[in-house]
Amino acid sequence: MVRPIVLLFLLCVPSSFAVKTSDFKTCAQAGFCRRGRALASRAQDNASWKSPYSVDSSSISVAPDQALFTAGVKSSLYPDIKFSLDVRIHDDGVVRVRMDEVDGLRKRYDEAASWALIAEPKLSREITWTVGNKDVRAIYGAKKENEVVVNLEPLRISLLRNGKEQVVLNGRGLLHMEHFRTKEIPRPEDTPEEGLDEDDVQVVMQVKPTAWFEGETEDGYWEESFGSNTDSKPKGPESHSLDITFPNHGHVYGIPQHATRLDLPTTTGENATYSDPYRLWNSDVFEYLASSPMSLYGSIPVMHAHSAESTVAIFNAVASETWIDVDHPTTKSSSTHWISESGILDVFLMPGPNPDEIFKQYTRLTGTPALPAHWALGHHQCRWNYISSDDIRSVQKRFDEHDMPVDVFWLDIEYAEEHKYFIWDKKTFPDPVDMTRDVEALGRKMVVIIDPHLKRTANYPVYKEASDLGVLVKSKSGDAEYEGWCWSGSSAWIDFFNPGAWEWWKGLFKTTSQGDKWSWVESTENTYIWNDMNEPSVFNGPEISMPRDNIHYGGWEHRDIHNINGMLLPNLTSQALVARSDPPKRPFVLTRSFYAGSQRFGAMWTGDNLGTWDHMAVGIYMVLANGIAGMTFGGSDIGGFFGNPEPEMLVRWYQVGAFNPFFRAHAHLDTKRREPYLLDEPYRGMLRDILRLRYTMLPIWYTAFHDASIYGIPILRPVHESIHFLMMPHYVVFPRDEAGFSLDDQYFIGGSGLLVKPIVHKDVTEIDVYIAEDQVYYNYFSHVAYRGSAKGKHVTVPAALHEIPLLIRGGSILPTRERPRRSSPLMKRDPFTLRVALDKTGYAKGQLYLDDGETFSHLEGNIVWREFVAEKTVKKAKTIKITSSDLVSKNLDTAVDGVSLTKYDPLNAFARSVESVRVEKIVVLGLSSKPVSVKVEGGEELVYEFTPGVAAEGKKEGQASVLVIKDPGVSITKDWAIVIQA
Ligand code: NOJ
Repeated sequence: MVRPIVLLFLLCVPSSFAVKTSDFKTCAQAGFCRRGRALASRAQDNASWKSPYSVDSSSISVAPDQALFTAGVKSSLYPDIKFSLDVRIHDDGVVRVRMDEVDGLRKRYDEAASWALIAEPKLSREITWTVGNKDVRAIYGAKKENEVVVNLEPLRISLLRNGKEQVVLNGRGLLHMEHFRTKEIPRPEDTPEEGLDEDDVQVVMQVKPTAWFEGETEDGYWEESFGSNTDSKPKGPESHSLDITFPNHGHVYGIPQHATRLDLPTTTGENATYSDPYRLWNSDVFEYLASSPMSLYGSIPVMHAHSAESTVAIFNAVASETWIDVDHPTTKSSSTHWISESGILDVFLMPGPNPDEIFKQYTRLTGTPALPAHWALGHHQCRWNYISSDDIRSVQKRFDEHDMPVDVFWLDIEYAEEHKYFIWDKKTFPDPVDMTRDVEALGRKMVVIIDPHLKRTANYPVYKEASDLGVLVKSKSGDAEYEGWCWSGSSAWIDFFNPGAWEWWKGLFKTTSQGDKWSWVESTENTYIWNDMNEPSVFNGPEISMPRDNIHYGGWEHRDIHNINGMLLPNLTSQALVARSDPPKRPFVLTRSFYAGSQRFGAMWTGDNLGTWDHMAVGIYMVLANGIAGMTFGGSDIGGFFGNPEPEMLVRWYQVGAFNPFFRAHAHLDTKRREPYLLDEPYRGMLRDILRLRYTMLPIWYTAFHDASIYGIPILRPVHESIHFLMMPHYVVFPRDEAGFSLDDQYFIGGSGLLVKPIVHKDVTEIDVYIAEDQVYYNYFSHVAYRGSAKGKHVTVPAALHEIPLLIRGGSILPTRERPRRSSPLMKRDPFTLRVALDKTGYAKGQLYLDDGETFSHLEGNIVWREFVAEKTVKKAKTIKITSSDLVSKNLDTAVDGVSLTKYDPLNAFARSVESVRVEKIVVLGLSSKPVSVKVEGGEELVYEFTPGVAAEGKKEGQASVLVIKDPGVSITKDWAIVIQA
């Protein structure tokens, strides 16, 4: 029997795909966005437009010994309204600008940054402000190249490098902070009400909306309706708007999450691609469009601005709804306008000067991505829904029968009785612990969904406890529990802003009983968590979410915190998973909603995509955009959540997935089963090959994840110049190559040197790949060598359905494990293959990072971290030596907080446990001639095979020479050298 709620959902599924745009506001339907955009058009139409805001020079105060300057700001519009400004420069050169209303009728929400930042940044003690008549300035940087200038009247803040403006705030005069006001105030043209004396009337006159700046009317100030919902707006208008221009940067990227190209298309100006600004308002958008500035599930208000000379970035730490217009007044400049509904203004300016430094600056603010458990990089199989424990067992069996590796089976909402999360539906899952143990037997894990809405019924202990504790979100009255509709019918939502919810939530995941408190005895330490619907999604709420006037802990309205609300659930859930075991294990939490800093808590996915080619393509751009905003552990539902992809599309989608950090197949309840073993040949074999390829590459992925997890911590030089995160677009790797600035359909995997261009179109047999440098790139599979050019060059790479355009950048050494296994934990003791792809000078370098893959003992130095280098023994000589050395001891002197390298011992317990793991094969690509001898230094001659290249060495293209050294007898944990004498 189909349950009523499922039926409700099925009924909602339209026959053809199309977002219901009418469910979501356009800018014109959101009062504050309308006002913000109207302000911009008035400014544009008025040549003498000037910002009314200025710094009150008498109030300037400069903190002794600290790069902090504070001042009062006034607006000529409202002389009686006071604002505060503080501008501070962190010890790494990041500039933070905060502005708030002082002594206002109410308080603005000022805690968004505190949820995103890992700590209060340290201020520079070396920079001092110089206060002049017209401005306040500070010069800083290793070569005194940076300068911050705060112009007093009108207020204008700019960050310069070598005298050139990089970022300008309020350069167009669109800064506006709507002060709190009282609704009852009569209009100036009204006669003073009886009882008001002359002074009151004065005040009244001063707070009149001023036509030239605020517009003629109080547009949407006090109440707004959308659909059947009315927002009571008890605080009235409190939006703020700010123009941020990048005068010397022609490209802007970031501000995820939107289904758009990475190089953000324009929203204003003559040839605007989109007519609405980019919207940040975490939303559950049913059947979202593959190209649109509409908001989606997560919001990271981080934007990079880029040119061949410079990269800068901003992080606008706002939690309320925000719209961002993007324009390029010239091809070399970008102009943006940020309009937010509430909160203080809190903007971080990251001076760069290149993507590498931006990542460091940003991760020092909001943290690096957590290092996940190793198994989390494997293949995840999900479906809404595997309907019973036997269903899970039989799916597992079929994967094994077809020799297809998989690490994780997922359970969607139907496992839970009446969608009361944590409570198993015993009719279909009578033996959840036994089922999990059956999955664990092959080293696998289960992920189970836990949503934030709680069914409002007294027989649901989780709801009952939350209600008794008083930690549920309140409706606008501030005292009644908010009631809305979600999967579980009439539901309430946990208010994770309430500290009273934190320990309680963590206790829920304990797998052993806790006195009379609820605990999850029907789970095991291998049950991990999926947090969905955390925007939050409310089926009968305005724009499928909570009313903005709902009340959270501290009396804040939902509007004030909406965009960070979703991040609190995975934050607390990941803490809960750490707390449930002793010694603790690394958590795994997948979240749909996220904000700046969410990278510390787990993975995200791009939500309910469609099984179309467009969605397959945009998923890549979206994961790239998330990555540059720090949220690197991402992926899209393989196959598309909605629809029944044809086999060709499914094969291509698995190829995309295998090169996403998060690799999960998922499908809607209404779709046909499409587990890879169900396909006919030749597709089934192709899927098996892709799954196996992913598994062979797990060492590369894990090393890249580790790099990302320590990035920003200046420990080591990367293999290639810029190594930061998992999927790196061209502008990051080649920041000076203009031809690559809009490229988002090919990208590098971490710092490994792998360049992939997944196919996202039908009937493709070959594809053009762009090589940005004068370097040799090798086809991973065929070893064909392509030679790039300093001016950039397009090469044609075969891409029939079974082929993935995957190139190795010359100069890289890739560690792989090539024994097919059923799950990744079964590979722990497998030998390694090293692929040495020589660059045009005969050099290559690579890394391998290993640890136990599941606990935190890596922080105690229980790791193996090797560097491999291949180089000529003497310049121009033909003899090449490949060495393996311990990367950590080499760099101990640069160890810093965050990674306890000081505790590192090369003979640590983990290293000892894997010392018998050997290198079973070394493949060297691009030798110029057949070796006469291949030996372990000081040892015997090794067995090898050499296939000469066909005109491919050094400068030429063609078939690369391949040397295969078999079983060199060296350990993966030891220092060694192999000498190839030509
Ligand atoms: C919405 C999620 O995006 C989707 O992945 C999931 O299957 C459904 N909720 C049901 O839980």
